[in-house]
Amino acid sequence: DVEKRVEALLSQMTLEEKIGQMNQISPSGDVNTTAELIKKGEVGSILNVADAKTINAYQRTAVEQSRLGIPLIVGRDVIHGFKTIFPIPLGQAASFNPDLIEKGARIAAIEASSVGVRWTFAPMVDISRDPRWGRIAESLGEDTYLTSVLGAAMVKGFQGDSLNNPTSIAACPKHFVGYGAAEGGRDYNSTHIPERLLRNVYLPSFEAAAKAGAATYMTSFNDNDGIPASGNGYILKDVLRKEWGFDGFVVSDWASVGEMIAHGFCADGKEAALKAVNAGVDMEMVSYHYVNHLKELISEGKVKEETIDNAVRNILRVKFRLGLFENPYVDESKGEVLYAASHLEAAKEAAIESAVLLKNEGSVLPLGESVKTIAVIGPMADAPHDQMGTWVFDGDKNYTQTPLKALESAYGDKIKIVYAPGVSYSRDTNTGGIAAAVRAASSADVVLAFVGEESILSGEAHCLANLNLQGAQSALIEAVANTGKPLVTIVMAGRPLTIGKEAALSDALLYSFHPGTMGGPALADLLFGKSVPSGKLPVTFPKEVGQIPLYYSHNSTGRPFQGTETMLQDIPAEAGQTSLGNTSFYLDAGNDPLYPFGYGLSYSTFKYDNLKLSSEKLKEGDVLTVSFDLTNTGKYDATEVAQLYVQDRFGSVTRPVKELKRFERIALKSGESRSVSFSLPIQELAFWNIDMKKVVEAGDFNLWVGGDSRAALKGSFVVE
Ligand code: IFM
Repeated sequence: DVEKRVEALLSQMTLEEKIGQMNQISPSGDVNTTAELIKKGEVGSILNVADAKTINAYQRTAVEQSRLGIPLIVGRDVIHGFKTIFPIPLGQAASFNPDLIEKGARIAAIEASSVGVRWTFAPMVDISRDPRWGRIAESLGEDTYLTSVLGAAMVKGFQGDSLNNPTSIAACPKHFVGYGAAEGGRDYNSTHIPERLLRNVYLPSFEAAAKAGAATYMTSFNDNDGIPASGNGYILKDVLRKEWGFDGFVVSDWASVGEMIAHGFCADGKEAALKAVNAGVDMEMVSYHYVNHLKELISEGKVKEETIDNAVRNILRVKFRLGLFENPYVDESKGEVLYAASHLEAAKEAAIESAVLLKNEGSVLPLGESVKTIAVIGPMADAPHDQMGTWVFDGDKNYTQTPLKALESAYGDKIKIVYAPGVSYSRDTNTGGIAAAVRAASSADVVLAFVGEESILSGEAHCLANLNLQGAQSALIEAVANTGKPLVTIVMAGRPLTIGKEAALSDALLYSFHPGTMGGPALADLLFGKSVPSGKLPVTFPKEVGQIPLYYSHNSTGRPFQGTETMLQDIPAEAGQTSLGNTSFYLDAGNDPLYPFGYGLSYSTFKYDNLKLSSEKLKEGDVLTVSFDLTNTGKYDATEVAQLYVQDRFGSVTRPVKELKRFERIALKSGESRSVSFSLPIQELAFWNIDMKKVVEAGDFNLWVGGDSRAALKGSFVVE
């Protein structure tokens, strides 16, 4: 039915109208100018308009005043919530909870669609292994499998059961592809990802999104191996459409068609339009080269009209699937879904599950009844805008509940809360307020230090070469630590920070990333034990910037470091190069991260034992069942994220030392033990091999189960 409607409409369209559908604009300035373009049929989509009244007005112009009445598709960066802001995606990923992430995306879709936004530029499923890169905040971390599972969950949440439902918004996995591998972690930089790595590490999360039904894709800004993504026909046509069967549309990133000129890949806008359209970019975001040049390129025979027809088919197909022709308008009076109580509750739940407990010496957390006075310090304790994080266009900071306010409202009648920020914002170098913070700390039973990064320090084009705490924050931590009072440091940030020094000075360290609108109440619950931390790191935390790139799933080297990191101290001054066995090792920082991928503590403790494999000899079509006992050995009812890692020991090409293959959140009462099992089809051990074929290679495999990527409970099996 949709295909018939697409063809019927296409057959009535002029070339200009077709090219118009391929044009996305960002209305600015005079509304009438935009309306004129829409009337002429020169616009297929708008972005960056997010109020119901304006969207309805533009939509009315398209539907009632353009010749064919084709509705606009209205796009917006709804990245981690629309009005109700959820934790940044990197934080959400720490939950290892696809259901929660799907729910967050569903809520974002319900809120955004209520004003007429029916397309989000999310999820971002770029594998991100460099915390210097500001956009790591928007990613789901470093791991291919985790990103694939969570990215697919986001697609499902945005798109709901059917695109046709007025509360569904089309997803747009981005940035296709390789954007997260920007050289040096500097945004927009070139990437150099060879095809095997691309297919084994960077493409699977995009393929998983296609399988989940993603309606659109966005090309990335980077050139990979010399080819800008918006001119890469191999990726957009051969991989996305032919291999994965994608039939939605591809949009360029902002002006990335035109930027192929700056890349030195195209001489002018005409060549940029030619290369982009022939590569398979169906819609151009804002740079206008399609409107300016496609007609001429067709008349010169450089672009086939069939190419244009196919691009328009892809766009119309999505518009029909969204039901835009039947339901182009929204009810302007319906504001009640925005910040609905259930949405705020879900955002709080997400913030709870996104927080990762990295240290808890002497079980200083959770805070108990003996605590009568708390000193609340640090620039993030009461920063309603900054705790929302990057990519927040629509969330209103007046709805944000900060830790200070949440603590005051939940405990202010029982506990004395002394607020002395010490440092007023994260980059503030002024140390003048530290003395007051120290005074507050000295008179308190416990110090809660909320430090981290302002939201502006991460996100697009916000990369850093230094990942230490900014401004005078470190001095603040040092000064309050010197009081000898128990110190709990809570970090709100858009990326892993190199916080080894502050971790050592603190009794407890809780990493909440930027937790969103409901971060305050979530953290209050965690600090006082109403909730128990369960988050796990979706990305490796380096000790030093110089260790980057540092990720758990690196390939086996010929000279792996097998000693302990304390060996460095034992090297005699006169030792030669062989003192550490000529292995791969940083003399000054070692190889260990500050915290490994998958790591996160609980108030409780867990024991893994009794590992069993359904078989130790398997064939390609078999399913391996890995079972083990998980026991909550601590005092608290709690949830553990159990993880399964596999290593393919020998391959036709070198293989990663281990790869995450399964994970599950398991809630256990104190003292409870449960047998857990993971099913792993052997087919999922396939990889792109020496012949660039995706195959399972026979041979020996190791596996581990445990609570992080250093899991120790080990088994092995053979694939025959
Ligand atoms: O969706 C974004 C993209 O991630 C970066 N450039 C702009 C787009 C639209 O705002």
